[in-house]
Amino acid sequence: LFDPVKFIEEVKPQLEQIVDGKAVAAVSGGVDSTTAAALAYRLLGNKVIPIMIDTGFLRENEAEKVKAMVSDLMPLQVVNVSEKFLSELEGKDDAEEKRKKFRELFYNTLSELVKKYQAKYLIQGTIAADWVETQGGIKTQHNVLVQLGIDTEKTWGFKVVEPLADLYKNEVRDLARYLGLPREIYNRQPFPGPGLLVRVVGGVSREKLEIVRKATSIVEKYLEQEDYSQYFAVIFDSHSNYDPEISKEVGCDVYTYTAKATGVKGDVRAYGRIAKVDCDYKDYERLRRVMEKVTSSDITHVVTKVADGYNEGKYSIGIRAVLTQDFMTADFAKIDWGLLGKISNEILSISKNIKEVVYDITTKPPATIEFE
Ligand code: XMP
Repeated sequence: LFDPVKFIEEVKPQLEQIVDGKAVAAVSGGVDSTTAAALAYRLLGNKVIPIMIDTGFLRENEAEKVKAMVSDLMPLQVVNVSEKFLSELEGKDDAEEKRKKFRELFYNTLSELVKKYQAKYLIQGTIAADWVETQGGIKTQHNVLVQLGIDTEKTWGFKVVEPLADLYKNEVRDLARYLGLPREIYNRQPFPGPGLLVRVVGGVSREKLEIVRKATSIVEKYLEQEDYSQYFAVIFDSHSNYDPEISKEVGCDVYTYTAKATGVKGDVRAYGRIAKVDCDYKDYERLRRVMEKVTSSDITHVVTKVADGYNEGKYSIGIRAVLTQDFMTADFAKIDWGLLGKISNEILSISKNIKEVVYDITTKPPATIEFE
């Protein structure tokens, strides 16, 4: 069993090296980075400068919400660099290229802040699952540097301190509770560092970003009472083609999109197609068998249609909800179809450019939890 008191004793020396200088703590508002910053602030006080970077890819009102949630524990500053991030990322469409560009912009920003505060260290909330998957080549997690052999001192002028690097999510939640972080933080579903960037699947545009931001709020509003590990919306190009071969094999109409998504097959990264199955039944176990067959090709995510919008719409909105212990493997949630319909209808009202709302019925593997 995880013992927060013992853990703090163990990581203390690692944080105390900071005594010889200041540290910037990067807070995303997620459990991991917020806990790492709170722990460091508790042990080292104002040698630690907690900063949240508003990259433009945060959820609705996220920065203000997080600032208010932690106000009793640390003085969090928000630095808004969204224009810079948006202009550099607009138009990029390859998942790994987007992640790598984001990482570069993110650490360049932090590097400037470290200089501004004459700090020597960067504290971040990397946990075990992050570097395990990045090392495995599944995807470039935005916060994995040291484990990839990147010399952060040479590149950005700071040493990285990762007090939670050996912990798993559940242990981080226990530690957060012990440190007195509010329930809204320690019970929070994970949110990826690159934020909505990886949920605008394929090419980045301001319009897609604004639509997915609104769709995310709707999905969260309806699903936060459910016991799912993670739940969110994605947006991708609705352009798709009917696939006669797969359709024949599975006995339902199957369409494949031009948009691509990340999966993990046989422990290696797969960047494949998204498929939509249009079966006339609403039975998750039957759909699971269809999903298994469909993903035996290069397809990484399988979605099923929930609601139609406007035929001329350019975008599909995907809803994803998963159940998992460790985020290394996951099952899709069997959301009540009535509830799914309600969520979808509200999402359709966001924009005339939405053609349809679909629900992701892929496990991890062969999909990853995120689409990119
Ligand atoms: P995947 O999509 O790889 O996600 O199955 C596993 C978990 O990690 C989260 N995730 C990230 N978290 N930086 C993060 O801090 C990232 O770059 C990143 N990418 C994925 C994802 O939301 C899920 O909880």
